[in-house]
Amino acid sequence: MYYPFVRKALFQLDAERAHELTLRQLQRVTGTPLLHLVRQSLPFKPVNCMGLTFKNPLGLAAGLDKNGECIDAFGALGFGSIEIGTVTPRAQDGNDKPRMFRVLEAEGIINRMGFNNHGVDNLVENVKKSHFDGVLGINIGKNKDTSVENGKDDYLICMDKIYPYAGYITVNISSPNTPGLRTLQYGEALDDLLIAVKQKQKDLEMIHHKYVPVAVKIAPDLSEEELIQIADSLIRHNIDGVIATNTTLDRSLVAGLKHAGEAGGLSGRPVQLRSTEIIRRLSQELQGKLPIIGVGGIDSLVSAREKMAAGASLIQIYSGFIYKGPPLIKEIVTHI
Ligand SMILES: Cc1cc2nc3c(=O)[nH]c(=O)nc-3n(C[C@H](O)[C@H](O)[C@H](O)COP(=O)(O)O)c2cc1C
Repeated sequence: MYYPFVRKALFQLDAERAHELTLRQLQRVTGTPLLHLVRQSLPFKPVNCMGLTFKNPLGLAAGLDKNGECIDAFGALGFGSIEIGTVTPRAQDGNDKPRMFRVLEAEGIINRMGFNNHGVDNLVENVKKSHFDGVLGINIGKNKDTSVENGKDDYLICMDKIYPYAGYITVNISSPNTPGLRTLQYGEALDDLLIAVKQKQKDLEMIHHKYVPVAVKIAPDLSEEELIQIADSLIRHNIDGVIATNTTLDRSLVAGLKHAGEAGGLSGRPVQLRSTEIIRRLSQELQGKLPIIGVGGIDSLVSAREKMAAGASLIQIYSGFIYKGPPLIKEIVTHI
């Protein structure tokens, strides 16, 4: 009811400024009785996936709470899972501003944030203070100044630090805003990374006496052949889940619209069909051997159901939440 007014005010501001302001407000209510103001009581719709029980299938996608500063507030809004990050071993500023743009007419967002974050140690401290009773995913990446050849080390450093605190871990190799990162999605580079990640998972399971599933997040900009190869690699290496998809570099559906020419990844409604197609194709290839978490342009109950009909066991939202606010969580969780 109130979100259209909040949105009107926020949309007067530059996109990143609105984002920062919202996070600061959510942070302020965390740990205070005011948290009740944002709380939505939603039905319990459990889903078992990757060996975990999710209280409902809807999660917050990575990138909105990069440092894990507002976990309890997003939990109160009713998400069954929250994916924080992408976090890197060391803090980094990301790209120069402006770097986030609304493509209003298409209900899309273009961003080239570049993994701005406070580093993994800071994220762990924030997680330790949180009380979320859902599943917490932690999404990891590499620092910009770590070469792609040494990128694997950054993922392993992050795994070491987050393992005891994560419900699941996402290996992000699909952001378009870290030069060379997406090359880790292919061939030997992918195999090499997945072997190292699985070995690390095994070592950490022994140390911490708990198994934390690992998911890999992929781009929507993949050819048929690339998708088949990735699916094959995920199965061969016993990866626990796949998150499809990240943002797209394609601009065909927003051509001519304001900000469409900005560099970066496009999300929201313009990526909806493409990401659903990737999920459908991936689901055929995977044959149920590992679950798919569907993300990309979900902005209604219908588009959420489309992702699940295409083969997703769980779903996530980012841009839809910016455009529709908390009522979207309620609509999806209540009726899905
Ligand atoms: C501003 C912005 C920042 C993002 N940052 C990340 C990130 O750090 N890591 C990541 O894996 N995905 C990131 N994403 C991608 C989202 O998690 C999601 O995969 C994508 O936006 C598609 O979903 P949507 O259409 O619901 O937004 C970001 C998206 C946006 C809009």
